[in-house]
Amino acid sequence: MIITIDGPAAAGKGTLAAALADKFGLAYFDTGMVYRAVGLQMLMQNIALDNDKQAQKLAEELTFPLMMKLSSQALFRSLEGSRAASSVAAMQGVRKALLKMQQDFSLSPVFADGSKAKGAIYDGRDTGTVICPHADVKFFITASPEIRAMRRFKEYQDKGQAADYNEVLAQTKARDERDFSREGSKPAKDAIMFDTSDMSIEEVFAKACRIIEEKL
Ligand code: C5P
Repeated sequence: MIITIDGPAAAGKGTLAAALADKFGLAYFDTGMVYRAVGLQMLMQNIALDNDKQAQKLAEELTFPLMMKLSSQALFRSLEGSRAASSVAAMQGVRKALLKMQQDFSLSPVFADGSKAKGAIYDGRDTGTVICPHADVKFFITASPEIRAMRRFKEYQDKGQAADYNEVLAQTKARDERDFSREGSKPAKDAIMFDTSDMSIEEVFAKACRIIEEKL
């Protein structure tokens, strides 16, 4: 079984995906990580974020183990890391180079320890449209920019990272504009839509479980 969850930053995709992966015994692929891994290397190597040749080269050379190694760095999920990821994700050459790696995961999904899984759950922006257009169940999760920015702001505070709410809100809106103006980032026609602005994660999870169980 393949499930996709797309939607803007901080809409609750990751939390929902991890909970569903756990409940249904699926391997989880957070596809934002591939762009974060390329963006972080650009930052670490002092490469300008508009250098698409270098970004494409890093994307072509990216492997799962390297991505996992980079993900342990503090910058990986920081505001700066998010901005870098979103910049490289806007480059067609980068997207093309990272496509196969993301699609191959659905052919033989594995858990973090390398053991085989009976299916996969993806989260990202284009997983139900470009990466896995034949997924069994597709969700598109959204919430207002203000609510999403507040969730991110609280996450930074909980991690002890300095952040300013207005800056997080401005970046959330800038990222939405970059991420949703390209082809493939609109909801798939057969996606089930959730607006999590006024829903708790428990409600979203329960509703998603019912839909998946019906499908099973
Ligand atoms: O989901 P996350 O916030 O980690 O994604 C980081 C960035 O990677 C996004 O802002 C977006 O630009 C890019 N991305 C993408 N396609 C995906 C997943 C993420 O373009 N499937």
